[in-house]
Amino acid sequence: VSRLPELSAWARSEVEKGGWVRRGYEQARRLRDLHGDGNVADLSLGQPLEAPEKAREAFIAAARDGRARRHGYMPNLGFPELQERIAEDVGVAGVTAQGIAVTPGAAGAISLALRTFLDAGDEVVGVAPYFSEFRLYSAAAGLDFVAAPGDRNGGVDLGTLEAALGERTRAVILNSPGNPSGRVIGTEPMAEVAHLLDEHRRRTGVEVLLIVDEVYRNLVYAPSHRAEPFDHWPRTALCRSFSKDLGIAGERLGYLAVHPSLTSADTAAAMALCQRALGYVNAPATAQLALLALDDWSVDVTPYRERRDLIAAAISAAGLEAAPCEGGLYTWVRSPLEDTMRFVDALMEERCVVVPGVAFGVADHVRLCFSVPRAQIGIAEAALRAVTDRVSAAS
Ligand SMILES: Cc1ncc(COP(=O)(O)O)c(C=O)c1O
Repeated sequence: VSRLPELSAWARSEVEKGGWVRRGYEQARRLRDLHGDGNVADLSLGQPLEAPEKAREAFIAAARDGRARRHGYMPNLGFPELQERIAEDVGVAGVTAQGIAVTPGAAGAISLALRTFLDAGDEVVGVAPYFSEFRLYSAAAGLDFVAAPGDRNGGVDLGTLEAALGERTRAVILNSPGNPSGRVIGTEPMAEVAHLLDEHRRRTGVEVLLIVDEVYRNLVYAPSHRAEPFDHWPRTALCRSFSKDLGIAGERLGYLAVHPSLTSADTAAAMALCQRALGYVNAPATAQLALLALDDWSVDVTPYRERRDLIAAAISAAGLEAAPCEGGLYTWVRSPLEDTMRFVDALMEERCVVVPGVAFGVADHVRLCFSVPRAQIGIAEAALRAVTDRVSAAS
């Protein structure tokens, strides 16, 4: 008998080539062992701040919920009353509960959108720098992920996006606020993307699905404003979650909301089927009940904005260049050294862990996650200063 390899070739090669964020996490752990917990700035993982008290209370209330079949199988697309609340929360005329699938986080929502609307062999176009998992979600659905280089600050570049649209393109995925770019797509760029998709439709007869990943939707820093994607392109799917703004990433709760023009009993049946095909069947029941137990899903962005301001000041004090951070948890910084890995390593020697841009398809930058205790931003500030001082002394 010939022995088969233990792992799939795909899993093996992805493990070998990827995992930058996890690698950062491991390095931070090693540094903490060496220098002590309070002496390391771990800006690698996109961990949200602690869940606010109201979210914790809601989970306690949900655990006590004693409704019938509380722990049994439930509708694949979520508790109907939660679908209703989400449709209201989307707040766009014509959006109804029928167009909502409650999912295990935005990861589930994106995977579900790809599964429901695309077929194996299709292409998905994203803007680089991109959230690295987009490649994995696409590959898991048998799709090819194609990166269109963004502009200098990680925003959408219409020229490269247009060039990336090909015969097999069936979806474009945008992420706003962006991970890692920190950029928010406002009304004008969203309208331009829609115009481009419309021209593509006229040329090829193909109406591309626009997937908008808004996992950080409630973390937009004024005066920046998000666009309402549904106002611009009908074939649109919004992918959101409560992971970040409510600090409940481990509870796995998000949703997919499809445009009214895509909403129908057929679409709902397809989404329910795909939720099962993906193997997660439904989003966790207790997390759904917790969301129902909360009267209000609003979040206070102040602790995030304060940290955004602190890291921005640290970056500019070190004389570094960063993309404007308009939302989310990350700052996208240009490496002052041609060899970005040397910059990453030099920061690590100063006890500051960041993720190299290669993880997001753009090699000359690094990503700093600022949703960390303020003291860690202080360590990062000193590290950035020490490294850039050495760079200027050497040149
Ligand atoms: C851009 C982006 N999309 C999706 C996700 C996945 O989010 P969730 O935890 O809601 O699945 C993340 C998580 O970091 C993210 O940064």
